[in-house]
Amino acid sequence: MTERKRVFSGVQPTGNVHIGNYIGAFRNWVSMQEDFDCIYNVVDLHAMTTPYDPAAFRSERINMARSVLASGVDAERSLLYFQSDVPHHAELAWILSTITGIGQLERMTQYKEKSDRAGQNLGLLSYPVLMAADILLYKVHAVPVGDDQTQHLELTRDVAERFNHRFTEVFPIPERITPEIGARVMSLQDPFSKMSKSDPNEKSRILLDDAPEAILKKVKSAVTDSDRYVRYDWEEKAGISNLLELFSIFSGRSIESLVEEYHEAGYGAFKIAAAEAIAEGLAPVRERMGSIEDGDVMKIMAAGAEVAREKAEQEMISIRAAVGLG
Ligand code: TYM
Repeated sequence: MTERKRVFSGVQPTGNVHIGNYIGAFRNWVSMQEDFDCIYNVVDLHAMTTPYDPAAFRSERINMARSVLASGVDAERSLLYFQSDVPHHAELAWILSTITGIGQLERMTQYKEKSDRAGQNLGLLSYPVLMAADILLYKVHAVPVGDDQTQHLELTRDVAERFNHRFTEVFPIPERITPEIGARVMSLQDPFSKMSKSDPNEKSRILLDDAPEAILKKVKSAVTDSDRYVRYDWEEKAGISNLLELFSIFSGRSIESLVEEYHEAGYGAFKIAAAEAIAEGLAPVRERMGSIEDGDVMKIMAAGAEVAREKAEQEMISIRAAVGLG
């Protein structure tokens, strides 16, 4: 039997988990469980690079793990754990930091954005090196992420190539996997910015556990345009195009068939139908969020970490050997 290819991905436990995370990442994480050997992480070390409150952080970590499980990641089939429970991530990040240029890190868009808001710190600058370590630690082939992680993935690939060239050929070069539609879900309040956990405007995003009434309110207040025809056109009608993508994803219908049905229905009726489809599509996730207890989450995460520590230790042997350690 040939070995299944490996996949790794992660999410920061920063609260406000939204449908962008679900569509851009979690849905792919779930579907990839069928054919790949999957390793998923709540990347808590990454979340410490911007100012945070330790007590809130503790519960955000659990909440994010619950969201991943509620989205359909099955801990029987996939390895799921908190990044900080497996010290090998930080060890490999150190090794990779010695072959990563500071200039390349300073050019990262997310570093520029976040260091404006949160102030500069070394952790924020070296964030992409830790992310490269997450991915390369398990020598994975594919990384299911949203579009906003493209630059980080490029850096990971560069670092892997540099390592293979400078030392021994240890790392496969990982591929980025993004969904065909929904790789960048946009804010409901500003269809030119991505939907984000940190947007101060709560109406900009739909949370995974939003009730149907909340979803309806947010979709009704979504910013569109002054025209009245529903068309899929990102240049002229970004707000409507964003809603069409969400409607299509959660209803399983094609964008063309939705445009045909709602072209002349008016934005009001279109928004109500889109909100209903989103609420219906999210219902199973919301229900599971309500039923998975903190204790269950902690047990699953501890069991995952135990398996991961062993796996990571095995993987580190060839990496340490390549750089002259161990
Ligand atoms: P994070 O926590 O910001 O987001 C988790 C995942 O959700 C995707 N995503 C979106 N997809 C579509 N539309 C959106 N509006 C949207 N917002 C977020 C992200 O692309 C991501 O896939 N640096 C990563 C975490 C990380 C990681 C890793 C990912 C650390 N190590 C290793 C993959 C592999 C991040 O901050 O994701």
